[in-house]
Amino acid sequence: MQTGVSVPILSYMKQLESQGVTDIEQLSDYLYQHYLNQVEQGLYSSNKYTLSGSNVQASVVSSNGNTTECILWCINHYLGLNRNQTVIDKVCKAVQEYGTGSGTSALSGGMSILHKQVELKLQRLMGKETVQLFPTGFTANLGCLSALPGKKDLIIFDRECHASIIDGVKLSGKKWVTFKHNNLHDLEQKLSKYKSEYQNIFVVVESAYSMSGDLAPLQGIVALKQKYKFLVYVDEAHTFGIYGENGAGYCSHLGIVEEIDFIAATLSKATASIGGFVATKSKYIPLLQWRANTYIFQACLTPGDAAAILASLEEIENNPYLIKLLHDKNQYMRHCLTNLGFDLGTSQSPIIPIFIPDVEKLQAFNKELFARGIFSVSVVYPAVKAHEGRIRFILSVAHSIEQIDTTVSVLHELALKYGVIKQELVAA
Ligand SMILES: Cc1ncc(COP(=O)(O)O)c(C=O)c1O
Repeated sequence: MQTGVSVPILSYMKQLESQGVTDIEQLSDYLYQHYLNQVEQGLYSSNKYTLSGSNVQASVVSSNGNTTECILWCINHYLGLNRNQTVIDKVCKAVQEYGTGSGTSALSGGMSILHKQVELKLQRLMGKETVQLFPTGFTANLGCLSALPGKKDLIIFDRECHASIIDGVKLSGKKWVTFKHNNLHDLEQKLSKYKSEYQNIFVVVESAYSMSGDLAPLQGIVALKQKYKFLVYVDEAHTFGIYGENGAGYCSHLGIVEEIDFIAATLSKATASIGGFVATKSKYIPLLQWRANTYIFQACLTPGDAAAILASLEEIENNPYLIKLLHDKNQYMRHCLTNLGFDLGTSQSPIIPIFIPDVEKLQAFNKELFARGIFSVSVVYPAVKAHEGRIRFILSVAHSIEQIDTTVSVLHELALKYGVIKQELVAA
């Protein structure tokens, strides 16, 4: 384990704890010093903020008191709808009419007609009997997964699942095991090992993984379901709005909506607002509404948020070219990078990771990238396995081809400088 200033805070924290530093005062003193060193060296990414809001077309980013004009590669507004004038106008109108906050949770009277319209629109789009709206995608997973499993049930989830899934599973207090990322063989082994021991098994996956951009083998999982009889929960956070007809998601794109018991998603990414939902059978409404504390005890999203979701869904419906253009740009950027010899792992979705196994090199590379006006976030251990560190590029339809070309060209130059790619390859 490296101990230099470039070691990310979380890795350093784990290292200290493993060395027996558990007193919170002492731990905080060590961490604070490390944090100050990282800030001084320009290695601490959380102290960056945009002066212009999330705008991939023109963003000014503040870091350590300096400002830099940047191409933004770290936000999840895949369709650029956060800057769509029609969406903005509808949100302004809704705020004039319905005010700002919701004031309380859905169960205590915080739902407005706008929230109901969101649920009904999503229900039709997803082709499920009901949609339950939550204040965020995180708390949708946290609430649903803590509420759904029964006393004698087992939860099996992919090892790369998001923290909201892991926390929800743990909060349920039920038994759980993981299976190797996207590995159907390992999943089948676990199913066959445990099927007779538990009343129900829940298999939980993401349709596209946020750190790797990998798509899940959902058809294979559905095929296993015929044999082992389990319930499937799919988090479509990174595919809702950008796959399937009218953005209904990856399950819809694959034609397997019927076979998926619970489809969850967040509304903070493609639909450029905030909120989360689960689409499922009506019979689960009481469990979701009365056993999910994030539904019962958390204030609803604001009327403006609800209006942004409705307006974004309408934009997606009225402009089908948006989704196509995003996937065309995804192919284009991937083609440029792989031709130059970059390692993009097994990613396919508009999340494009560039793998740089050496942490020191990764941090230095990303620091220089930022200085050159390219703002992206590095993902390192323990968020991913050691030696699987990466810089993550989240593509939006709002990125121009010129911005993609500029980014690829700077990446190429730095990759040669840092030895991230071995030799210059000739683009096909
Ligand atoms: C897979 C996945 N699920 C859930 C969430 C939580 O969504 P939100 O940030 O909208 O609460 C995220 C956020 O990044 C995510 O990547």
